[in-house]
Amino acid sequence: MMAAAAMLFGACCCNDKQECAATDPADVVMQNILNRKSVRSYNGEAIPDSVMQNLLRAAMAAPSGMDIRPWQFIVLTDKSQYDSIFEGNGNMNKFMESGAIIVVCADTTVTRPTREDPDGPAVTMPNPMWRDDVAAVTENLLLAVEAYGLGACWTACYPFPNTMAPVRKTLGLPDNVIPYAVVPIGYPSTENSPKDKWDPARIHNGRW
Ligand SMILES: Cc1cc2nc3c(=O)[nH]c(=O)nc-3n(C[C@H](O)[C@H](O)[C@H](O)COP(=O)(O)O)c2cc1C
Repeated sequence: MMAAAAMLFGACCCNDKQECAATDPADVVMQNILNRKSVRSYNGEAIPDSVMQNLLRAAMAAPSGMDIRPWQFIVLTDKSQYDSIFEGNGNMNKFMESGAIIVVCADTTVTRPTREDPDGPAVTMPNPMWRDDVAAVTENLLLAVEAYGLGACWTACYPFPNTMAPVRKTLGLPDNVIPYAVVPIGYPSTENSPKDKWDPARIHNGRW
């Protein structure tokens, strides 16, 4: 474990929270990022409201193109809704024991004065950067989940019509709002390890 952890974290002492409570702020952040992993089985326990609120606070701290912040969140804790949410995404039984599901949504439009006429009337137009913003939101959410000792899995919704349709219908989304990602969250019922994705061959110095 220690050898694997040393490989994963380099300068940081280890990746086992029981053995190593990092105190250096950089180590704490690195440990959080490198420990994040997809978790697909949960023990059914409810997640306290205060924790849910902090997860959403972290999500909303994401960067946003032109600071438009197109994100909207639908929080589900009623398990009777889970089936219909996953109707278009096969073999999702594994997520039924999650304590909550957060559906990360994006308003694909923005309503504001145009650049050409900043003092003029607000106009509704497409926001070309919404995908980038909600991807950042989703990763922030996953990192906060990890920080609270919870587990989560980013499950695909956008851009698959068959996956989005039941989510849209169940949640009553307006046409301009896209269900981007469905994120089940819960207390893990199994041990889960992060993957080591460090690959220096992906780094190009100066040019390709
Ligand atoms: C856009 C996106 C869609 C994903 N969709 C699913 C999904 O539908 N079901 C699932 O089990 N995992 C899904 N995942 C999780 C990936 O399988 C997982 O991130 C990948 O295997 C790497 O593992 P890790 O998250 O543990 O590092 C998705 C991840 C992303 C970023």
